[in-house]
Amino acid sequence: MKKSIISILLIVTLAGSKVLAQDFKEKYRPQFHFTPKANWMNDPNGMVYHNGIYHLFYQYYPDAKVWGPMHWGHATSKDMISWKEQPIALYPDSLGYIFSGSAVVDKNNTAGFGKDALVAIFTHHDPVQEKQKTGKHETQSIAYSLDDGKTWTKYKGNPVVQNPGISDFRDPKVRWFEAQKKWIMTLASKDRITFYSSPDLKSWSRESDFGAKEGGHGGVWECPDLFPIKHEGKDVWVLIVNINPGGPNKGSAGQYFLGNFDGKTFTSNSKETKWLDYGTDNYAAVTFANTGGRNILMGWMSNWQYANQVPTDPWRSANTIARELGLKTVGNEIYLTSIPVKELDALNSTGFLLKNVKVQDQLDLTERAKNKSGLFRLDLTTESKADFSIVLSNEVGNELIVGYNKAGNQYYIDRIKSGKVDFEKGFAEKHTAPRLATGSKISLTLLADVASVELFADNGLTVMTDIFFPDTPISKFHIKSVSGIFLDTLQYKSIKSRNDR
Ligand code: FRU
Repeated sequence: MKKSIISILLIVTLAGSKVLAQDFKEKYRPQFHFTPKANWMNDPNGMVYHNGIYHLFYQYYPDAKVWGPMHWGHATSKDMISWKEQPIALYPDSLGYIFSGSAVVDKNNTAGFGKDALVAIFTHHDPVQEKQKTGKHETQSIAYSLDDGKTWTKYKGNPVVQNPGISDFRDPKVRWFEAQKKWIMTLASKDRITFYSSPDLKSWSRESDFGAKEGGHGGVWECPDLFPIKHEGKDVWVLIVNINPGGPNKGSAGQYFLGNFDGKTFTSNSKETKWLDYGTDNYAAVTFANTGGRNILMGWMSNWQYANQVPTDPWRSANTIARELGLKTVGNEIYLTSIPVKELDALNSTGFLLKNVKVQDQLDLTERAKNKSGLFRLDLTTESKADFSIVLSNEVGNELIVGYNKAGNQYYIDRIKSGKVDFEKGFAEKHTAPRLATGSKISLTLLADVASVELFADNGLTVMTDIFFPDTPISKFHIKSVSGIFLDTLQYKSIKSRNDR
């Protein structure tokens, strides 16, 4: 009797510790992208660098693998690659669920919570009022932490921005505007962006609206961001606006505008709708605060079209790799560029370099690419003279194809036959993206984790992020071109699991 109780206890403890001590062995568990150990995650929130640590908060529902009452989960990292999950930072309260938002370091103690306090600015979403259809169920609130994000105190005067009667009124992204010594809040209000300003993070005044008639309007505007990047000696202001649905390949995506911000009004110089990422799986992407001269973007690697159905267990969703942003002029337009942060290189493992290789029909790199993790980074350069593709496949015939189509001058990711696709009818599709670069030299960087590919073409001018779920791990690797291409260089590096460091 006693013995059996002990063995039951042992089994329970072992089962419990298995979940806690994450082993990274579950099917589809990303190895160099952040995932919560268990349960539901969506948008990255409150990303901020503070005292040598990167903080990632995220929309989290700790009780199930589907979206529910939102909390802010928390993870920390020294390099934006290896993340350690921390206790939940913010729980729902009488004002509602804790929806998306941002965090700042209050260096001048403007709010009076303490010098260098971390202050989170987020949306309170009240489900009771939502049912009553008051149109006022989303308000903006703040909380602060004086111990590096470990514990948080919600401000007694919440909410700090009341709702004027707009049903979608959320996702505040706050930054310090040094020229006028004030805080600027960029807020998504349904089909436009509203800017507010504040001296102390507590009292906010409405400054202006932007975008009711600009950009993509195939869905609700959400999760904005506003920041300058130096380009050719001048500050160019970048306004990111995530939109759902209405993305270039359906569902959720991030668009951006380039222009000027004078502390009150944003003016766009963009003549066309521009997209941060043409893949289907980079949503709610915004930048880290307090990273000095660096602008680092990270998004949720999923799409509201199928996020609640993807076949992973016991968690759902990952984040994209962190990306360094820049600007590049092409013809008369300026575009954002994004490339993986250099910190990822620390996970590079064995690899090989090929130079001056002609690919006619196909080049089978399976044997050369064999490595422990099966994950890799590929950098190749070639000419935009013919169609070619990079094919990742396995023993059971699943194929994920990343390619260039010359006639359309497009890049694409085809996940039609990539494995498990039947959990949502629109998942098995081919996604395309325009090649924006004008020169004939193509350079591609491809990151392949267990269940995702991220393509950075032409030094990050065209980016595509797609998730996929092969029935067995990817084990074969080919470059294909029927009409033939010449590879100037092909550098393959296997990437270690962030768990193996
Ligand atoms: C975007 C979003 C945000 C909202 C959050 C709720 O994915 O819809 O607008 O704050 O998710 O979880």
